[in-house]
Amino acid sequence: MKRSSRLEINLDALTHNLSVVRKHANDANIIAVIKANAYGHGMLAVARHLAGKVDALAVACVSEAHYLRDNGIDSAIVVLQGFHNLSQLDLCFQLDLQPVCHQSWQIELLKQHQSDKQLSCWLKLDSGMHRLGVPMQDAQLYTEQLLKLAAVKKLRVMTHFASADEENALLNQQQLDAFNSYHAGLTLEASMANSAAILSLPDTIKDWVRPGLMLYGVSPFADKPASVFGLKPVMTLKSYVVAINQLPAGQAVGYGSCWSCSRDSQVAVVAIGYGDGYPRHASNGTPVLINGKRYPLVGRVSMDMITVDITATGAAIEIGDEVILWGEELDVGEVAECSTTIAYELLCNTGRAN
Ligand SMILES: Cc1ncc(COP(=O)(O)O)c(C=O)c1O
Repeated sequence: MKRSSRLEINLDALTHNLSVVRKHANDANIIAVIKANAYGHGMLAVARHLAGKVDALAVACVSEAHYLRDNGIDSAIVVLQGFHNLSQLDLCFQLDLQPVCHQSWQIELLKQHQSDKQLSCWLKLDSGMHRLGVPMQDAQLYTEQLLKLAAVKKLRVMTHFASADEENALLNQQQLDAFNSYHAGLTLEASMANSAAILSLPDTIKDWVRPGLMLYGVSPFADKPASVFGLKPVMTLKSYVVAINQLPAGQAVGYGSCWSCSRDSQVAVVAIGYGDGYPRHASNGTPVLINGKRYPLVGRVSMDMITVDITATGAAIEIGDEVILWGEELDVGEVAECSTTIAYELLCNTGRAN
């Protein structure tokens, strides 16, 4: 069922952003991270567009990879959480997926697995984030165990940064040093860098890089907009004006009456709300573009509507006029900041709703 809001996905911008990844990552192989419905952009459309342009795709879980295979995607697929049980491991073999092994029980399951097929897999090391990954002190042991398995045709290694978006975080160097001291002397291909590391920590670019956010044209840094890196937004979220109200000074607007007109005001109602993935916590003043001009959101975000103060408009705004909530002329990062969240969440939520 269609709602009034509309997502526009610019696949040329995706291609352009991939060229920005290449510029930073030199000759590294590229794993495009397309989990969570490609950060809301539509996993299948993005996978089809990137097939043949990148070296692998990455998803979070086996079911996402299964969906891609069912729909004809035959690219290499890395499963970032690996398999959660035996039947998912079976699927990794059947569908030729590349699971990430990050826990000792996964390695045990792989050791016991009876299959005449082989798969490529990744060993993930916990270099300091303490989310997924085997402890650094056990890394050598697990590496040797996996290298001995006939079922493993190729082993690669990876780790993930906790604070790559903070260029000066001490932990970045500590994680890099921990990973390098494990990897020294090994000939296994390695991967460390996500978008923030690709853009700001060149020493972390190994054989493979794993960009997500930057591919979608969004900056991973709170203090640097995407344009600084030449990234172009892939997603534009649009709707239109459905009502315009003339309100005298002192009148309150919306649920909870949490914003009142300080002067005689003109308030536009736009057909988009948290039911469409627009953030409910967007604060008064969050920018909204109507006919290409910025206006402040006022009052509480409802399920299907927001209210925008257009009193200051020089040009007439009419019912049906186009509204852009984020996209090419309005950075999703700015909307995220006004909503005390991050661009990743806004993109993903929109993709779930539309
Ligand atoms: C293991 C791993 N690698 C790479 C990425 C991509 O990160 P980003 O979107 O910040 O580039 C993610 C995303 O969460 C991830 O979990």
